Amino acid sequence: MTLQLTGRVAIVTGAGAGLGREHAMLIAARGAKVVVNDPGGAVDGQGGDNSAADKVVAEIRQRGGDAVASYDSVADAQSAKRIIDTAVKNFGRLDILVNNAGILRDKSFAKMDLGDYRTVIDVHLMGAVHCSHAAWPLMTAQRYGRIVMTTSVAGTNGNFGQSNYGAAKMAVLGLMNCLAIEGRKNNILVNAISPGAVTRMTEALIPETIARYQGPHLVSPAVAWLCSERCAETATIIAASAGGFSRVQFFQTRSVQFDPAQPVTVEMFDQAYGEIADLATAKPSPLGFLSDAAERLKAIGKL
Ligand code: NAI
Repeated sequence: MTLQLTGRVAIVTGAGAGLGREHAMLIAARGAKVVVNDPGGAVDGQGGDNSAADKVVAEIRQRGGDAVASYDSVADAQSAKRIIDTAVKNFGRLDILVNNAGILRDKSFAKMDLGDYRTVIDVHLMGAVHCSHAAWPLMTAQRYGRIVMTTSVAGTNGNFGQSNYGAAKMAVLGLMNCLAIEGRKNNILVNAISPGAVTRMTEALIPETIARYQGPHLVSPAVAWLCSERCAETATIIAASAGGFSRVQFFQTRSVQFDPAQPVTVEMFDQAYGEIADLATAKPSPLGFLSDAAERLKAIGKL
């Protein structure tokens, strides 16, 4: 089965380079009309250059696709709203939003400037919030939407020198989970990609032997799938790098249940810690807040 996005309108933020460029090209090649958003700044977000988005638009058009450029920043609410308006003004609707825009301001936590901390949160987390918030009423009204967040191992696994970036990248997963719950009834599915690819952001970090297999185009098939009608998943995190794809999922172990009517001490916790932390009993965390307290209390005869 060939997967098509014909008739759909997509926005890819930060699509002037790296992963975003590849996502935009593939989504356009599969028939969607695409807003190529990118202010064209440096890796740290400084400066700007319209030619980044313009070049990708030209490439898409050259290959017979339909695209327009947007140079607005996702980091500011009004500017982000203009990105969504660009889709509606040019193509009449919006079906797909890929929140991909990103910057880096790496430093060890001890040396981290709090201004840089906020700037990174503003682009990664608030950028995804701003764009999703402006897209939400449109997707709700048409009862269709596909939103893809971009997370990172720096958040899910941690990384030295990236406390600002890692925090922002975990935060977009919290955003994803809540929007997935709120959007489900209107067929708005919200998922995430955790990519690994050689781009200007990572080229200094990835050894050459691996780098030649880590083109950003190898991540985009998963993103295009998450953007399609074929995808029925929501709140799913897909890791993609070097042609390999996997699912990232949070798990929780079975509770060690004490009698809550009796004292529960630090020593009791200490003694039970091995069992509490034993991943052999772990199950995937469900989507949505589902307290199992009633079940546990019933099991020990308290309810
Ligand atoms: P990149 O630097 O090539 O692309 C990021 C793009 O976002 C740039 O074109 C930049 O101009 C744009 N951008 C920056 N600030 C923006 C703003 N305020 N508004 C709109 N666009 C803005 O880097 P790469 O690697 O392609 O990164 C894409 C996304 O993937 C980022 O969110 C990054 O954090 C994430 N990521 C990348 C990984 C990798 O291995 N390359 C690993 C994990 C996550």
